[in-house]
Amino acid sequence: MDFMKDRSAPIGVFDSGIGGLTVVKHLIDALPNENIVYFGDTARVPYGSKSNDTVIEYSIQNTAFLMEFGVKAIVVACNTASSVAIESLRSKFDVPVIGMIEPGAKYGLGYTSNNKIGVIGTRATINNNAYSHQIKELSNEVEVFESACPLFVPLAEEGWVDHPATWAVAAEYLAPLKKAGIDTLILGCTHYPILRAVIQREVGPDIKLVDSGIAASYSVVKELTERDILNKSNSQGSHIYYVSDVPTTFQFVASLFLGKEITNIHKVETDYISSLFSIKK
Ligand code: DGL
Repeated sequence: MDFMKDRSAPIGVFDSGIGGLTVVKHLIDALPNENIVYFGDTARVPYGSKSNDTVIEYSIQNTAFLMEFGVKAIVVACNTASSVAIESLRSKFDVPVIGMIEPGAKYGLGYTSNNKIGVIGTRATINNNAYSHQIKELSNEVEVFESACPLFVPLAEEGWVDHPATWAVAAEYLAPLKKAGIDTLILGCTHYPILRAVIQREVGPDIKLVDSGIAASYSVVKELTERDILNKSNSQGSHIYYVSDVPTTFQFVASLFLGKEITNIHKVETDYISSLFSIKK
Protein backbone atom coordinates (compact mmCIF):
# COMPACT_ATOMS: atom_id res chain seq x y z
CA MET A 1 0.00 0.00 0.00
CA ASP A 2 1.18 3.49 -0.76
CA PHE A 3 1.52 4.88 2.76
CA MET A 4 1.18 8.46 1.51
CA LYS A 5 -2.42 7.63 0.76
CA ASP A 6 -3.02 5.92 4.09
CA ARG A 7 -5.23 8.49 5.79
CA SER A 8 -4.90 6.90 9.21
CA ALA A 9 -1.10 7.03 9.14
CA PRO A 10 0.27 9.40 11.80
CA ILE A 11 1.81 12.82 11.27
CA GLY A 12 5.43 12.89 12.44
CA VAL A 13 6.56 15.99 14.31
CA PHE A 14 10.02 16.78 15.62
CA ASP A 15 11.83 19.52 17.47
CA SER A 16 15.18 19.89 19.15
CA GLY A 17 13.39 19.56 22.48
CA ILE A 18 10.02 20.35 23.90
CA GLY A 19 9.37 23.65 22.09
CA GLY A 20 7.64 21.74 19.30
CA LEU A 21 4.90 20.80 21.76
CA THR A 22 3.56 24.34 21.28
CA VAL A 23 3.06 23.32 17.64
CA VAL A 24 1.50 19.97 18.57
CA LYS A 25 -1.00 21.87 20.72
CA HIS A 26 -2.23 23.81 17.68
CA LEU A 27 -2.10 20.72 15.45
CA ILE A 28 -4.38 18.87 17.88
CA ASP A 29 -6.78 21.85 17.93
CA ALA A 30 -6.85 22.04 14.13
CA LEU A 31 -6.83 18.28 13.45
CA PRO A 32 -8.23 16.43 16.48
CA ASN A 33 -8.66 13.18 14.56
CA GLU A 34 -5.08 12.90 13.36
CA ASN A 35 -2.64 10.51 14.99
CA ILE A 36 0.63 12.18 15.94
CA VAL A 37 4.08 10.82 16.73
CA TYR A 38 6.37 13.43 18.29
CA PHE A 39 10.11 13.28 18.71
CA GLY A 40 11.86 15.83 20.93
CA ASP A 41 15.64 15.63 20.81
CA THR A 42 15.96 16.66 24.46
CA ALA A 43 19.41 15.05 24.80
CA ARG A 44 20.91 17.23 22.05
CA VAL A 45 18.99 20.50 22.55
CA PRO A 46 19.78 23.32 21.74
CA TYR A 47 20.13 23.22 17.96
CA GLY A 48 20.20 27.02 17.70
CA SER A 49 23.87 27.29 18.57
CA LYS A 50 25.05 24.35 16.41
CA SER A 51 26.50 24.42 12.90
CA ASN A 52 24.23 24.02 9.88
CA ASP A 53 25.80 20.64 9.06
CA THR A 54 25.07 19.29 12.51
CA VAL A 55 21.47 20.55 12.44
CA ILE A 56 20.97 18.99 8.99
CA GLU A 57 22.41 15.68 10.19
CA TYR A 58 20.23 15.62 13.32
CA SER A 59 17.14 16.63 11.32
CA ILE A 60 17.65 13.76 8.86
CA GLN A 61 18.13 11.32 11.74
CA ASN A 62 14.99 12.58 13.51
CA THR A 63 12.97 12.30 10.32
CA ALA A 64 14.32 8.80 9.61
CA PHE A 65 13.18 7.80 13.11
CA LEU A 66 9.67 9.19 12.51
CA MET A 67 9.50 7.47 9.11
CA GLU A 68 9.70 4.15 10.98
CA PHE A 69 6.11 4.82 12.09
CA GLY A 70 4.92 5.05 8.49
CA VAL A 71 4.10 8.76 8.84
CA LYS A 72 2.22 10.45 6.01
CA ALA A 73 3.78 13.88 6.60
CA ILE A 74 6.58 15.47 8.61
CA VAL A 75 6.21 18.70 10.54
CA VAL A 76 9.53 20.31 11.39
CA ALA A 77 8.34 21.99 14.59
CA CYS A 78 11.65 23.78 15.00
CA ASN A 79 12.49 27.02 13.24
CA THR A 80 16.21 26.30 13.45
CA ALA A 81 15.87 22.95 11.69
CA SER A 82 13.37 24.47 9.24
CA SER A 83 15.76 27.27 8.36
CA VAL A 84 18.70 25.02 7.45
CA ALA A 85 17.43 21.49 6.78
CA ILE A 86 14.09 21.75 5.00
CA GLU A 87 15.48 21.30 1.48
CA SER A 88 17.60 18.30 2.50
CA LEU A 89 14.56 16.70 4.15
CA ARG A 90 12.34 17.35 1.14
CA SER A 91 14.85 15.83 -1.24
CA LYS A 92 15.56 12.81 0.97
CA PHE A 93 12.09 11.76 2.13
CA ASP A 94 9.08 10.93 0.04
CA VAL A 95 6.42 12.60 2.21
CA PRO A 96 5.33 16.23 2.47
CA VAL A 97 7.61 18.18 4.82
CA ILE A 98 6.10 21.26 6.44
CA GLY A 99 8.41 23.73 8.17
CA MET A 100 7.86 26.84 10.25
CA ILE A 101 9.46 29.58 8.16
CA GLU A 102 7.18 29.79 5.11
CA PRO A 103 3.92 29.85 7.13
CA GLY A 104 5.36 32.20 9.77
CA ALA A 105 6.60 34.65 7.12
CA LYS A 106 3.24 34.63 5.33
CA TYR A 107 1.35 35.34 8.52
CA GLY A 108 3.74 38.12 9.48
CA LEU A 109 3.15 39.76 6.11
CA GLY A 110 -0.59 39.46 6.58
CA TYR A 111 -0.45 41.31 9.90
CA THR A 112 1.83 44.26 9.23
CA SER A 113 0.37 47.63 8.31
CA ASN A 114 3.54 49.74 8.46
CA ASN A 115 5.70 47.16 6.61
CA LYS A 116 8.14 46.82 9.50
CA ILE A 117 8.36 43.28 10.76
CA GLY A 118 10.53 42.07 13.62
CA VAL A 119 11.73 38.48 13.89
CA ILE A 120 13.19 36.80 16.93
CA GLY A 121 14.76 33.36 16.83
CA THR A 122 17.82 31.32 17.67
CA ARG A 123 21.27 32.37 16.47
CA ALA A 124 21.10 29.82 13.65
CA THR A 125 17.71 31.01 12.40
CA ILE A 126 18.74 34.66 12.53
CA ASN A 127 22.27 34.17 11.13
CA ASN A 128 20.84 32.24 8.19
CA ASN A 129 18.40 35.13 7.55
CA ALA A 130 15.74 32.50 7.13
CA TYR A 131 12.79 34.82 7.71
CA SER A 132 14.11 37.89 5.94
CA HIS A 133 14.85 35.85 2.79
CA GLN A 134 11.40 34.31 2.86
CA ILE A 135 9.60 37.61 3.55
CA LYS A 136 11.57 39.44 0.87
CA GLU A 137 10.68 36.74 -1.62
CA LEU A 138 7.03 37.48 -0.95
CA SER A 139 7.23 41.27 -0.77
CA ASN A 140 9.92 43.81 -1.53
CA GLU A 141 8.22 46.60 0.41
CA VAL A 142 8.80 45.18 3.83
CA GLU A 143 11.69 45.96 6.14
CA VAL A 144 12.72 43.08 8.39
CA PHE A 145 14.50 43.56 11.70
CA GLU A 146 15.93 40.39 13.20
CA SER A 147 17.26 39.66 16.63
CA ALA A 148 18.73 36.45 18.03
CA CYS A 149 17.46 35.61 21.51
CA PRO A 150 19.46 32.52 22.50
CA LEU A 151 18.75 32.77 26.23
CA PHE A 152 15.01 32.46 25.70
CA VAL A 153 15.35 28.71 24.97
CA PRO A 154 16.90 27.67 28.31
CA LEU A 155 14.56 30.07 30.15
CA ALA A 156 11.56 28.44 28.46
CA GLU A 157 12.89 24.90 29.02
CA GLU A 158 13.34 25.86 32.67
CA GLY A 159 9.72 26.96 32.84
CA TRP A 160 10.69 30.52 33.85
CA VAL A 161 7.74 32.01 32.04
CA ASP A 162 7.19 34.82 34.52
CA HIS A 163 10.48 35.41 36.25
CA PRO A 164 12.59 38.56 36.78
CA ALA A 165 15.50 36.96 34.88
CA THR A 166 13.25 36.48 31.85
CA TRP A 167 11.93 40.05 32.07
CA ALA A 168 15.50 41.40 32.10
CA VAL A 169 16.59 39.24 29.16
CA ALA A 170 13.47 40.22 27.20
CA ALA A 171 14.09 43.93 27.82
CA GLU A 172 17.64 43.61 26.51
CA TYR A 173 16.80 41.56 23.40
CA LEU A 174 13.68 43.44 22.37
CA ALA A 175 14.85 47.04 22.82
CA PRO A 176 16.35 47.39 19.28
CA LEU A 177 13.18 46.01 17.69
CA LYS A 178 10.97 48.45 19.60
CA LYS A 179 13.27 51.26 18.53
CA ALA A 180 12.98 50.18 14.88
CA GLY A 181 9.22 50.85 15.02
CA ILE A 182 8.00 47.36 14.10
CA ASP A 183 4.25 46.71 14.31
CA THR A 184 4.51 42.89 13.99
CA LEU A 185 6.84 40.46 15.71
CA ILE A 186 7.30 36.90 14.50
CA LEU A 187 8.10 34.44 17.27
CA GLY A 188 10.55 32.54 15.07
CA CYS A 189 11.29 29.77 17.54
CA THR A 190 8.83 27.21 18.80
CA HIS A 191 9.99 27.73 22.37
CA TYR A 192 8.96 31.38 22.45
CA PRO A 193 5.15 31.13 22.57
CA ILE A 194 5.60 29.94 26.14
CA LEU A 195 7.17 33.35 26.90
CA ARG A 196 4.48 35.19 24.97
CA ALA A 197 3.12 37.15 27.96
CA VAL A 198 6.58 38.47 28.89
CA ILE A 199 7.36 39.35 25.27
CA GLN A 200 4.01 41.09 24.75
CA ARG A 201 4.40 43.08 27.95
CA GLU A 202 7.89 44.14 26.91
CA VAL A 203 7.02 45.28 23.37
CA GLY A 204 3.66 46.75 24.37
CA PRO A 205 0.09 45.86 23.42
CA ASP A 206 0.16 47.48 19.95
CA ILE A 207 2.70 45.08 18.45
CA LYS A 208 1.10 41.95 17.01
CA LEU A 209 2.83 38.69 17.84
CA VAL A 210 2.87 35.91 15.25
CA ASP A 211 3.19 32.34 16.51
CA SER A 212 4.91 30.36 13.75
CA GLY A 213 3.36 27.17 15.16
CA ILE A 214 -0.22 28.40 14.65
CA ALA A 215 0.65 29.46 11.12
CA ALA A 216 2.28 26.08 10.45
CA SER A 217 -0.72 24.14 11.74
CA TYR A 218 -2.87 25.86 9.08
CA SER A 219 -0.30 24.87 6.45
CA VAL A 220 -0.53 21.26 7.59
CA VAL A 221 -4.33 21.32 7.18
CA LYS A 222 -3.93 22.81 3.70
CA GLU A 223 -1.24 20.32 2.64
CA LEU A 224 -3.15 17.25 3.86
CA THR A 225 -6.36 18.52 2.27
CA GLU A 226 -4.71 19.19 -1.09
CA ARG A 227 -3.10 15.75 -1.10
CA ASP A 228 -6.36 14.18 0.04
CA ILE A 229 -4.77 12.43 3.00
CA LEU A 230 -6.76 13.88 5.90
CA ASN A 231 -7.78 11.31 8.47
CA LYS A 232 -11.53 10.91 8.07
CA SER A 233 -11.99 8.95 11.31
CA ASN A 234 -14.49 10.31 13.84
CA SER A 235 -12.49 9.28 16.86
CA GLN A 236 -9.88 11.28 18.73
CA GLY A 237 -6.36 10.74 17.33
CA SER A 238 -3.64 9.06 19.39
CA HIS A 239 -0.58 11.06 20.45
CA ILE A 240 2.70 9.37 21.25
CA TYR A 241 5.76 11.26 22.45
CA TYR A 242 9.38 10.17 22.15
CA VAL A 243 12.31 12.05 23.65
CA SER A 244 16.03 11.34 23.68
CA ASP A 245 16.31 12.30 27.36
CA VAL A 246 13.88 12.83 30.21
CA PRO A 247 15.08 15.79 32.27
CA THR A 248 13.83 15.98 35.86
CA THR A 249 11.51 18.91 35.16
CA PHE A 250 10.20 17.30 31.98
CA GLN A 251 6.62 16.52 33.05
CA PHE A 252 6.01 20.01 34.41
CA VAL A 253 7.56 21.91 31.52
CA ALA A 254 6.20 19.63 28.80
CA SER A 255 2.67 20.05 30.18
CA LEU A 256 3.20 23.80 30.17
CA PHE A 257 4.19 23.70 26.50
CA LEU A 258 1.42 21.36 25.46
CA GLY A 259 -1.22 23.07 27.58
CA LYS A 260 -2.32 19.79 29.18
CA GLU A 261 -0.96 16.85 31.11
CA ILE A 262 1.41 14.86 28.92
CA THR A 263 1.24 11.06 28.97
CA ASN A 264 2.51 8.36 26.67
CA ILE A 265 6.17 9.43 26.80
CA HIS A 266 8.91 7.05 25.75
CA LYS A 267 12.65 7.43 25.78
CA VAL A 268 14.69 6.52 22.74
CA GLU A 269 18.46 6.19 22.91
CA THR A 270 20.47 8.91 21.18
CA ASP A 271 22.86 6.23 19.92
CA TYR A 272 19.97 4.70 18.03
CA ILE A 273 18.87 8.02 16.54
CA SER A 274 22.49 8.81 15.57
CA SER A 275 22.86 5.43 13.87
CA LEU A 276 20.09 6.28 11.39
CA PHE A 277 22.15 8.69 9.31
CA SER A 278 25.61 10.20 9.09
CA ILE A 279 26.49 13.16 6.93
CA LYS A 280 29.94 11.63 6.33
CA LYS A 281 28.44 8.60 4.55
N1 DGL B 1 12.66 25.16 19.12
C1 DGL B 1 13.80 25.53 18.34
C2 DGL B 1 13.38 26.50 17.24
O1 DGL B 1 12.19 26.63 16.96
C3 DGL B 1 14.91 26.18 19.10
C4 DGL B 1 15.53 25.52 20.22
C5 DGL B 1 16.98 25.17 19.99
O2 DGL B 1 17.86 26.04 19.96
O3 DGL B 1 17.21 24.00 19.86
O4 DGL B 1 14.20 27.14 16.65
